[in-house]
Order: sequence, then C-alpha cells, then structure tokens
Amino acid sequence: MCGIVGAVGHDRCGPVLLDALKRLEYRGYDSSGIVTLHEGQIDLRRAVGKLVNLETALADQALPGSIGIGHTRWATHGGVSEDNAHPHVASDRVSIVHNGIIENHRTIRARLESAGHKFASDTDSEVLAHLFVEAFDAGLDAVAATQKILAEIEGAYAFAAMATDYPEQLIVARNASPLAVGIGEGACYIGSDAIALAHLTRKVIYLKDHDFALISADHVAVYQADGTPANREAVIVAASPGMVDKGGYRHFMEKEIYEQPDAIAHSLAAMTDADGQLTATMSTEDLRAITGIVMLAAGTSHYATQIARYWIETLAKVPVVCEVASEYRYRHPVTSAYSTALAISQSGESLDTLMAMRHAASSGLHTIGLVNVPGSTIARETDFVLPTRAGPEIGVASTKAFTAQLTVLLSFAVALAKAKGSIDAERAAQIHQQIQSLPGLVGRALTLFDPIRPIAHALSQARSALYLGRGTLYPLALEGALKLKELSYIHAEGFASGEMKHGPIALIEEGLPVVALLAADEVMAKASSNLREAAARGGQIILITEERAVHEVDFADAVITVPNVDSLLAPILLAVPAQILAYLTAVEKGTDVDQPRNLAKSVTVE
Ligand code: M6R
Repeated sequence: MCGIVGAVGHDRCGPVLLDALKRLEYRGYDSSGIVTLHEGQIDLRRAVGKLVNLETALADQALPGSIGIGHTRWATHGGVSEDNAHPHVASDRVSIVHNGIIENHRTIRARLESAGHKFASDTDSEVLAHLFVEAFDAGLDAVAATQKILAEIEGAYAFAAMATDYPEQLIVARNASPLAVGIGEGACYIGSDAIALAHLTRKVIYLKDHDFALISADHVAVYQADGTPANREAVIVAASPGMVDKGGYRHFMEKEIYEQPDAIAHSLAAMTDADGQLTATMSTEDLRAITGIVMLAAGTSHYATQIARYWIETLAKVPVVCEVASEYRYRHPVTSAYSTALAISQSGESLDTLMAMRHAASSGLHTIGLVNVPGSTIARETDFVLPTRAGPEIGVASTKAFTAQLTVLLSFAVALAKAKGSIDAERAAQIHQQIQSLPGLVGRALTLFDPIRPIAHALSQARSALYLGRGTLYPLALEGALKLKELSYIHAEGFASGEMKHGPIALIEEGLPVVALLAADEVMAKASSNLREAAARGGQIILITEERAVHEVDFADAVITVPNVDSLLAPILLAVPAQILAYLTAVEKGTDVDQPRNLAKSVTVE
C-alpha cells in the first residue's frame, strides 16, 4: 500500500503535490518522490525515509511544471531504496506511480526485458512505465494503450502515468485500490483518497473498479476497461479537516488517547435517535432480519469484533463468527448460516476487509460497514453504515478508533437485542445509561499516565511479555499485546488465561512480565487462579483492573486500577491503561511512536 497523487493545470505543481503527499503519509512512509513534466523534460526527485527528506530535496532543487505525479511508499516488492522509490521513469518518456501489487509482474518483466527494456528497480510497479512505452512505440493512443495494459496486468492497482507523448494529461486507472479524481478551478488532481485533495477541492469523482481515465486541466474522460466511455458523477465530499496537528501533545497517539472521551461521546450520539433511543441507524425491521452475523476485520478492528461477539450473543442471542479478513474468502466459507456481514475498519480502506466484504456480498449476505472515515470505499459500498465519530486517527497504532468501535458495537448489540425482543426496553435503557457514563469513566482513566510511567520503564527492559484475559478481556489481551509489539518492538503474546495451562505456561520464567486484565465479572475467580499459576512460576504480574477487583490478585507485582464499571463496559475502560502502558513503554524505548517501523496506517494490499 502506498499513497499516490497527481496534478494537471496547477502552475505550482511541485509544492501542491508535496502537500497532498503529506496528507497520505499514513499510507506508507519509507520513501517518496515527485516527478513533473516541464518543456518536454521529465524531472524527478526521490528520497528514502520520511517525507521531510523529499521536502529537503525539493527545497534544494524545486520542480518546475504544471503537470506531475507523486508517491509515498510502503515497500512490498523490492527493498527500501531510492531506486525502488516511485515515481518510476522508463525511457525518459513515461513516468508512473502505483499503489497495489501487479501480481503477474515477473512474466511481464521477462517479456519486456527480452524485448530490450532496461529496468532500474526491483519493484512490480515499474512494468507499468515500460508497458506504456511499448504501447506508444506500437502506435497506440492513450486510450488504446491503457486498455491494452489493463487487459494484461493482474492484481490490485491504482496508478497514474504521465508521458511526454501526452504532456497535458494524466492517465489513471484503478482496480481494488482506491482512487479519487478532484475537479478544481482550471486544474484537476488525483489522490488515493479525497483527504489528500482537501486543500485543493471538495468536488470529487470516485472511479469504479476497472475504470481508467484521461485527465487534463479542464476535462476528465472516464472509460471502462474495454474502452467504453463511462459516466461517473462528481460528488461534493464533506469538508475534511485534512491535516491535523498534535495540538501540543508529544505524539499523535498521546493526543488520540486523550481524545477518547469525545470520540466515545460523539460515536454514541451517532447511534442515538432524536428520542434518545439506541437505533444503530437501522430500522427495527432491518435489525429483525439479522439472523446471523459474520464479522470481517483486521488487526485492532478484528479484536473489536471478538469483544462484540460476546455482547451480541449474550444480549441479542444472534450467532456471530469473527473472521480474520485476509483469510475469509480464501477458505471458501459456507455462508448460509448468516444473513449479514459486518465489516469493521477504521480507515474503511483495508483491502483485506474490503475484499472479504465483497465476497460476503457476492454470496448474498447483507453488508454493514462500521467505519471511521466517511466516504471511504467500505462506507460507499456497504448496504448500511454504522459510523464511529472518532475524528481523524493519525497515529499508526489504533486507540480512539478502537474504543469508539467498541462503543458503537455495544450500542448495536443493545439495539439488535431490543429489536429481537431478547431484552426489554427497561434493560436496554439501563445499558444505554451505563454506556453514557463511559466518557466520564475514560476521562478518569486518563489520569493514569503518571502511575503507569514507572511500570512502563520496567517493561521497556523486557524482551518479551504475556497478556492474559478471560471473557471479553481475552480479545483485549490480544489487543494489548499488539499495541506493545507494534509500538515498542517487544515480543508480546496475548492468551486466554484459561488456555495457559494447555501449553503457553511453559513460556513463563523468572521475571517474565505478565500483563493481567481482570474485571469483577463471572470469570474473575477463575481468571485470578490462572494468574496465581503464572505468578507461582516466576511471572511478574502487572495487574490492570477495576478498584473492586484488586483484592483478588493480592500477589501482583504492580497494579493499575480504573474506576469500577459494569462488566459489559469493562473491555472499553480497561483498554485505556493498556494503551497508555504500550505508549509509555515505546516512549521509554525511544521508538517512532506515531510511525513505527515497517507499518502504515492504511493497508491497501493483500
Ligand atoms: O483501518 P483498519 O481498521 O481496517 O485497520 C486494520 C489494521 O490494519 C489496524 O487496526 C492495525 O492493526 C493497527 N496498526 C493496530 O494498531
């Protein structure tokens, strides 16, 4: 996954493209580049590392021209190097930027190399530039050339090409990877999403899969893959905050942890109708039609689905299965037991989740998309949207989006249970009232930074850690371990506490940190016995719990407490200290908190 941008008709193309790339850095940040076309010459700047390095290169040597394309990369094929950074140029004639994977690139490259094409990178993407040169050499015009190339390439892509043969237009195409075309005043733009273009225009055309387009300063001509002209309406996208700043915090992640009371309150408001009832934004009839749910998500969003399964099955008595999105369609699932697919994604762009959702839809399931980014691909393609209103999440590690997802999922479980008659209006109102107390409770948990600091200092010395939980706190243990490993690079594993004795307990040795998540719920006594077994073998217990449960684990080495909370809400509240622990451990270790190594905020490759 990567971010691509382009502009045609803007006389300050270089700076405009750099600004657009800054808005896409969440998609990848290991190298970047911009190329413009000026007086028939292709002019290229690329830099390894964060965008600031490209900015420096451009400050040293500005790029002239009113047409150009740019890219921020998350390496898939070929290591991180300037040669592998995009844009790629072939024969000083065609330049391309690409997001996605050209799956049959080896075959195409071999064919082109044997025809004399010289490649400069190890990427799959470079074949696109050479394919355009080949097609133009064969006398094809831009439409015919693109049509031919789309017929040959396989895989997911959004790409833009700029050619000296067509100095006043960009050629773009998409399949599975997102692409937005922005219509400005006397100029047009392209970006991997509309946020990239928010400083330039709100008028956007979203290309459909297999579309391609020729874009000039004052015209956008869209075609289907077979060359048939296509009519794609422009839409006005919601005003986007575009680039947000750290607001005085040291990291976006710290800011986003602090934003959780608002994120939860706004998300809850989105699930509540004018009469103050939880509606899940769906009619009672639509909710009643749900007889089984397959949840599709990745990473932190997947752990949110695993927590929600407990709520939906307990309250609404509707069967739920949670699927890792990247596995779903490849195991040829039997879908007849489910009426509905619920795809959960902060970005609304994770390709694994999108493809899983499409697979479910093509199998006849209704789709619900729970997304944080309005207008994202999943939001546009799904039958119903459940919105989280967490606001832009910039830190690569998901925090406020996770607790907002959980808030919406619990509200959805209550609305579904009420519609199904498995809980009465009184019980629904009681749970709703408890959910409304969450912003305040989470606000109180935010005072834990100082008490957690010394615990994080000790944890930062560890090479490995375990996270344990039972019930809804088991998926939270998985999420806590993910936060620690992705931020601090400390190896961490989450387990169901009761599963320890079936094997993982062999990992415990003197001094191994064991982060224990505990609530005063129906499994507390059993969970605490499991922790005693870990402590007896030398595990250093770091207990994260509510005040009334502390006494259950009087053998803990360190204790972090949150206010008492109804057990339904416990995974939401206990997530906060787990996030703070991972954040402060990473700060202690001096890692790149907002942009950890090898990661990207939005993963748009399979
Ligand atoms: O945007 P999505 O919710 O679809 O993203 C899913 C995962 O890529 C994401 O949650 C990832 O695991 C985060 N780095 C976790 O902090």
